[in-house]
Formats: sequence, structure tokens, C-alpha cells
Amino acid sequence: MQMADEIEESYLKQYRIAVIEGDGIGREVVPEGIRVLEAAGRKFDIDFAWTHFDWSCESYLKTDRMMPEDGLEQLKQFDSIFLGAVGYPGVPDHVSLWGLLIPIRREFQQYVNLRPIRLMEGVESPLKGHLPGGIDFCTVRENNEGEYSEVGGRMFRGTQSELAIQESLFTRRGCDRVIRFAFELAERRRNHVTSATKSNGIIHTMPFWDERFAAVKKEFPGCRTDQFHIDILAAHFVAHPEWFDVVVGSNLFGDILSDLGAAVVGSIGLAPSANLNPEREFPSMFEPVHGSAPDIAGKGIANPIAQIWSGAMMLEHLGEAKAAKAVEQAFCSVLAKGGPRTPDVGGTATTREAGEAIAAEVRGIA
Ligand code: NAI
Ligand code: MG
Repeated sequence: MQMADEIEESYLKQYRIAVIEGDGIGREVVPEGIRVLEAAGRKFDIDFAWTHFDWSCESYLKTDRMMPEDGLEQLKQFDSIFLGAVGYPGVPDHVSLWGLLIPIRREFQQYVNLRPIRLMEGVESPLKGHLPGGIDFCTVRENNEGEYSEVGGRMFRGTQSELAIQESLFTRRGCDRVIRFAFELAERRRNHVTSATKSNGIIHTMPFWDERFAAVKKEFPGCRTDQFHIDILAAHFVAHPEWFDVVVGSNLFGDILSDLGAAVVGSIGLAPSANLNPEREFPSMFEPVHGSAPDIAGKGIANPIAQIWSGAMMLEHLGEAKAAKAVEQAFCSVLAKGGPRTPDVGGTATTREAGEAIAAEVRGIA
């Protein structure tokens, strides 16, 4: 009997996942992410223990905190964090972001924000002439420092002399580790890294970023590289999205490029992201690129695919490559065969119908 128990245990892998649905459509797409991951779990003998944390702008209005004082301590014990989105009218966006999302990314050293961009079969790009798979790249966004720093301040508030100062923070360690991650990723893809810069206009930090890019690239002689100033890079994302394999950029540039990339392949509702702590000293966090979309929240029409794909990235990170692949294949195949889809990608399905169709597809994949 004991033996049987042991055998069973060795086959059923268990993961403890912290779930933060957050605000707006976060509450609608996360349940669909869980539905699809549960379907994959049953198929691949993976057991998820989901622990829900009701941390949001709604709870902020009651408690004056986006998460409890020991929130990070509570999250630390989990294998991963599965997040929807935070932010809602009534709470300033910098309060909601700096009260929850940014502390998690920083304290848990999730210094890579990995955001795949792919044109999938059955989805129309707003750009002419691109075939499915013809646009397929990853943005690697620095996620811990850069332009999103707390260094700065305000003075002479309310007077004509009022001023605001915001310092950018670029460290050698911070640049090197994210650039190195981009090269390592490119080695597993098409061996091409593009750096997003602005070293013509931003005189200190961006020449430094370029120097670090040049230094790190020497470690990867097999990789082709190029770099573009962010303004023309944005134009190339639209005019030549097929050029790119891995695009690495600072916190701000990576943030902007990932929404642009998502638009180019059809919808922000299709764009997933992984906030990775590659050393695995802390849990990593998986969330869509999009926010809480107050304009469509409560209507049940948000596209759940960004959240579901983020779930696949979580499976991959947990070492469940087969299950991750099955989830990816499932939403690709539902899109390709014209299955239920939400209005942002030309359909009439609800969030739930789209999620259910993908879960059913997972169950059907051998
Ligand atoms: P957003 O991404 O929430 O929405 C932008 C537009 O895309 C809206 O028209 C929305 O309806 C649409 N959209 C977004 N996700 C969609 C989906 N899954 N399916 C269909 N359409 C979708 O960005 P916005 O409006 O700038 O921000 C809204 C709130 O979200 C703000 O409070 C902001 O601070 C917060 N935010 C939070 C993020 C996070 O938690 N990681 C990221 C970005 C914004
Ligand atoms: Mg963003």
C-alpha cells in the first residue's frame, strides 16, 4: 500500500500557485486561465493548489493598501504567481501599480519581462501581407530599474515654480543580466538580438546601455545583432515586423514596444507575459500584457487568450513543457479553425465561451 502511495505521488506533480485576479477584466480572464490550466493538469498529471488573494483597487478603498504589509512574505512561499491586472478608476494608476505589481516584480527580482509576439493563423493583422508565423518575435523588457524608478521628487507644489524630477537608473548588473537573457533566448530561437536604444538624445543612460550591449554580445559570437533608436524601431515594428527575433529594451521602451507588437499581431488581448526571476530564488509571475480595461470590464467580452498563454508560460517555467505546448496548441487551433473568439479578434463569443472552447481543445489533444 505504501508503495502504491509513493508511486502515485511521484507521478502527480503539485504546484502551489498564488492567484491575484486584481481589477476589471482581470476578474474575468483569470478564471478562464485556471479553467484551461486545470484541463492541462488533468491530462498531464499535474495538480494545482490555487490560493486566491483578493488584492485590488476595491480592497484598497477599504484598507488603504493594495496588499497587506506582509503581502510579499505571503507570496514568497508559492511556486508561481498568476495575476490578471490591477488598476481601476477611483484609485490613481501610480498608486495601484506601485502598491502591488511593481513591488512584486522588484522584490522578487523578476528582472526579465518576457513578451512573445506572434501572428497566429486565423487572426488578422492590421498590416497587409503578413502570413501566420511570419511575425514571430519576443520582446525582453528590463523589469526592475531604468525609467521606472522612485528616485526624484516634487517641489514648490501649487506655485508657478512647481517642478518634478524623475531619475532613470541603469546599473551595469541590471543591464548585463537582462541583455544576457536576451542573447540566451536568441540562441534557442533564430540567433538574432535587436537592442532598443536612444543614445542620440538621452546622453548618459543610453550610451551606457549601448556599451553594455556591445560588451555582452561578445559572449555570443554566433548571434547576429543590430540596434535602433526607439523612434525608428517603433516604425520598423509596423513596416518590417518580420525582421525581429529577440528585441531587448529598457523598462519604458520594452513596455511601449510590447503593446505596439501586440497591436501588430491583431490584439492586445493576445499578448502574454512572464515576469521571470531566472535564478529561481523567488516565485516568478505570469500575467497578460494588457491592463484591467475598465472600458469593457463587466461585459464578459475580454479576450482570455493573453491570460491563458501566460498560463502556458507558467507551465513552461515550472518545467511542464509538454503541458505548456498543449495549451499553446489548443488556443492556436481554436483560432485557426475559426472557433469561438471574442470581439477584439472579430468574433462574437464571450470570455467564458472562448475559454471553454480552448479547455475542450486541450482535453482533445493527444
Ligand atoms: P488596457 O490594456 O487595460 O486597455 C487598453 C485597451 O485595450 C482598451 O480599449 C481595452 O478594452 C483593450 N483590451 C485590453 N485587454 C483586452 C482583452 N483581454 N480583450 C479585449 N480588449 C482588451 O490599458 P489602459 O486602458 O491603459 O489601462 C487600464 C488600467 O489598467 C489602468 O488602471 C492601468 O494602470 C492598468 N494597467 C495595468 C497593467 C497591469 O496590471 N499589468 C498593465 C497596463 C495597464
Ligand atoms: Mg504596459
